[in-house]
Amino acid sequence: MRVLASAPAKIILFGEHSVVYGKPAIAAAIDLRTYVWAEFNDSGAIKIEARDIRVPGLTVSFSEDEIYFESDYGRAAEVLSYVRQAIELVRDEADANGRGITVSITSQIPVGAGLGSSAAVAVATIGAVSKLLGLELTKEEIGKLGHRVELLVQGASSGIDPTVSAIGGFIHYEKGNFEHLPFMELPIVVGYTGSSGSTRELVAMVKQTREEMPDVIEPILAAMGRIVGRARDVLLSDLDEEVRFARLGRLMNINHGLLDALGVSTKKLSELVYAARTAGALGAKITGAGGGGCMYALAPEKQSEVATAITIAGGTPMITRISGEGLRVEEVLP
Ligand code: PMV
Repeated sequence: MRVLASAPAKIILFGEHSVVYGKPAIAAAIDLRTYVWAEFNDSGAIKIEARDIRVPGLTVSFSEDEIYFESDYGRAAEVLSYVRQAIELVRDEADANGRGITVSITSQIPVGAGLGSSAAVAVATIGAVSKLLGLELTKEEIGKLGHRVELLVQGASSGIDPTVSAIGGFIHYEKGNFEHLPFMELPIVVGYTGSSGSTRELVAMVKQTREEMPDVIEPILAAMGRIVGRARDVLLSDLDEEVRFARLGRLMNINHGLLDALGVSTKKLSELVYAARTAGALGAKITGAGGGGCMYALAPEKQSEVATAITIAGGTPMITRISGEGLRVEEVLP
């Protein structure tokens, strides 16, 4: 038996960093996906074939049974540790320890770009392997297992990434509780700086600044929390699309300014943000931890202009759609 499952990338629309301090955040799944095939093998071991995992600056080539890594080996190894933990957790849940399983991965999601590639690979692996082992899990349960994988590999995680990847659509997250917001199309463009920031280091930097000057940083985090509250109201409202997008755009711009104030933007991120706004985006901001990675712009009827502006500013644009679908079992072959 062979099973193919896929899971989407995500963007954090509002509330990164402040979510670490108990404020709410809103994230959405996007239509870049990671695909995982799972099948049994007779060796009793876990085997992982990384066919194309989109690590920037990394070339992985295969010849017979040999794998050749060039350049950023550490990042690739990190991706594979999510996959391994995911398989071990599911085998445990299914009481199938010692069962040989081979997974094969292809991904459209760049690694280290803040688009949730680790969560997507964990969720797709859990989806494929649980189906293979005949374990009936809901998407919510798969999201929770994905969170456990992140905790095992990273040591800390809010859990928003695997939840949104498993469930899809828009998620409002607050203090461990998730609410599924109604689906809507958002005309967005994601701009990738080409470099990656370390979430762990950026979170630590914000923590230190907050400890040094809580009177300055606390009001910024509180304002970010209120931005998320307003954005949720807009997403739940039946306002005209035009008004809705204009309001979301303004909130994005304010959120970006506050993230910049926390010190998590970079020259390149700011250049992409301003290039997008100049080309007609209603709003543009960092998405994710910052320090590199990605920004996103809300650009109704201006997506291609904004994509061009991002390219001219030296970034890689991705015109993408919100994905209503989270984890998907694509194929089950006998
Ligand atoms: O690196 P990303 O895109 O998964 O974003 C991390 C979001 C933070 O709020 C900075 C950290 C967290 O754990 O929520």
